[in-house]
Amino acid sequence: MAKLPAEVTVDVSALDEAMLGIANLDGRALRVRNALPGETVQTRVLRRKKGIVYGDGVLVEHPHESRRASICPYFPRCGGCSMHHMDYPMQLELKQRQLAQALDSNAVVPRGWSAPQKAGRLGYRRKARLGVRMVGEQVLVGFRESFSNRVARMDSCATLTPELSALLPDLKRLLPQLSIADQVPQIEVAQGDTQCALIVRHLQPMTESDVELWREFAQTHAVEIIFQAKGYDTLVPLSGGPLKRLGYRLADHGLYIEFLPHQFTQVNLAMNETLIRYVLAYLGNLQGKNVLDLFCGIGNFTLPIARAGARAWGMESAPEAVAMACVNALNNGVADQLQFSVADLFSSESAVDVAAILAQCDALVLDPPRSGAGPGLHDWLTHFAGNTIVYVSCNPNSFASDAAIIVAAGFELAQVGIFDMFPSTAHVETMGQFVRRSRETTVG
Ligand SMILES: C[S@@+](CC[C@H](N)C(=O)[O-])C[C@H]1O[C@@H](n2cnc3c(N)ncnc32)[C@H](O)[C@@H]1O
Repeated sequence: MAKLPAEVTVDVSALDEAMLGIANLDGRALRVRNALPGETVQTRVLRRKKGIVYGDGVLVEHPHESRRASICPYFPRCGGCSMHHMDYPMQLELKQRQLAQALDSNAVVPRGWSAPQKAGRLGYRRKARLGVRMVGEQVLVGFRESFSNRVARMDSCATLTPELSALLPDLKRLLPQLSIADQVPQIEVAQGDTQCALIVRHLQPMTESDVELWREFAQTHAVEIIFQAKGYDTLVPLSGGPLKRLGYRLADHGLYIEFLPHQFTQVNLAMNETLIRYVLAYLGNLQGKNVLDLFCGIGNFTLPIARAGARAWGMESAPEAVAMACVNALNNGVADQLQFSVADLFSSESAVDVAAILAQCDALVLDPPRSGAGPGLHDWLTHFAGNTIVYVSCNPNSFASDAAIIVAAGFELAQVGIFDMFPSTAHVETMGQFVRRSRETTVG
């Protein structure tokens, strides 16, 4: 087949899961950013992979009725977001449709759908991993470009919180002054309620004058700087001493949850509050109940569950996260109701007997990584004594295949819906409430 020219005009027929327009030119498959079904777009070819050609689109004619001018000047070149070219109702509808299709492919029929949950489309992102790249005398800091490993040119970001976005220009000014400017590949940013922290990955040691530049930056912006020479076990705070904790208040529950800057936390605080509200509502009355929270992280769900009156057990593979969950339990006065264990929930060799604990539980909460709950799910369910399972997921496909296992074990998917944790990106966050079919409980 002849090579495509660098620029082609194509008709877009549909969107794929990454929100790329699907098009076809002389039998060749194209995926185009900034393109909506029914539109004709001109696209520059940016990448070829496994027989598919990728490019960014420019609308030529037939704009989709939900097309909107992007509020972000760096879209679509910046790969951080993929949906700035459509209105918000369309974003939500596409995400819900993706979940519905995944459930349908797994023959799971929900009894009810909860309305898509939303909490502000911009300035929501409290955590991100930004690329850093030297280009001539300049240093770029930002998300990767679409379809390439290059770092996008950007001076602000509409999805980062205003506090994190405001750091970008000064970071771009500081980095070229470092003696090791070309040896800093990445900066992670994290924000708590009162402070921000930056984890600066560096491949060569910083000199004294480099450290001094970072010290000035830290003072000017009132941020914590942490150097990372290798893995997370090499984190060294610029200010000396142990890593300082960040934290977020869950006002509805009278809780303050602390975390270390590199630990997993839900990136969107407002949507996290909604997630917790729904988890508790779906669990129903928790007074005196026993709940197991699998993949519990720093206790983001486990602590509110205890606050609502339950005895809860959290399990998680990262020992540091479990240690932080224990600190959170103590500091919030709920340690008596809580127990946390380090457990690799994907391993049959795990020292913790999940099945034995489940045999005493009234409810189960799952919030696994993208790959899903893992090979133990079927066995866990054969031992589970309770009637309610609440499953939070960042991947509709693994959620749907796990949902089929849960349904086969005697449960019904009573409620399901999307929770828009990452507006303007293709990420779909889902929550489902499963209730035992024979001993059905009231939906909260
Ligand atoms: C999506 S996060 C959920 C964390 C927590 N529920 C929250 O809201 O902050 C998934 C968690 O699963 C943990 N995890 C990943 N693989 C695991 C495994 N094999 N066994 C146990 N936990 C695992 C991660 O460390 C992470 O904390």
